[in-house]
Amino acid sequence: AATPRYEAESAALSQAAVAANHTGYSGTGFVDYTNIIGGSVEWTVNAAAAGAGDITLRYANGTTVNRPMDISVNGTPIATGKAFNGTGSWDTWASAALTATLKAGANTVRATATTAGGGPNVDYLEV
Ligand code: GCU
Repeated sequence: AATPRYEAESAALSQAAVAANHTGYSGTGFVDYTNIIGGSVEWTVNAAAAGAGDITLRYANGTTVNRPMDISVNGTPIATGKAFNGTGSWDTWASAALTATLKAGANTVRATATTAGGGPNVDYLEV
């Protein structure tokens, strides 16, 4: 079966907004974090069974400066200051891999910007 995709534009946003002013995104747009510390995107995702699995976050960073984020699953950090380095342009998207332990059923995955630049632009999460 295809890996379920959860669009960022359908997630719960804080200090971040849906945008569509660049190309190459999936769905109807992407999320543009405000350029401050603390903006976040939180997805609610489903897992058929409990256990560890790979999740993929698709992002673009048109700067040459890292836009790190903390990643948490069900409120527990799984990555602190994970690097989202420049992708060459805001139209060029890259995939970041994470490993998460999920419970069966609904889980929350949150990505929070940790520097004043804010997060990268975020397209989706695949779980
Ligand atoms: C530009 C770009 C946005 C991006 C922003 C940023 O304004 O068009 O898509 O989010 O830079 O620095 O975060």
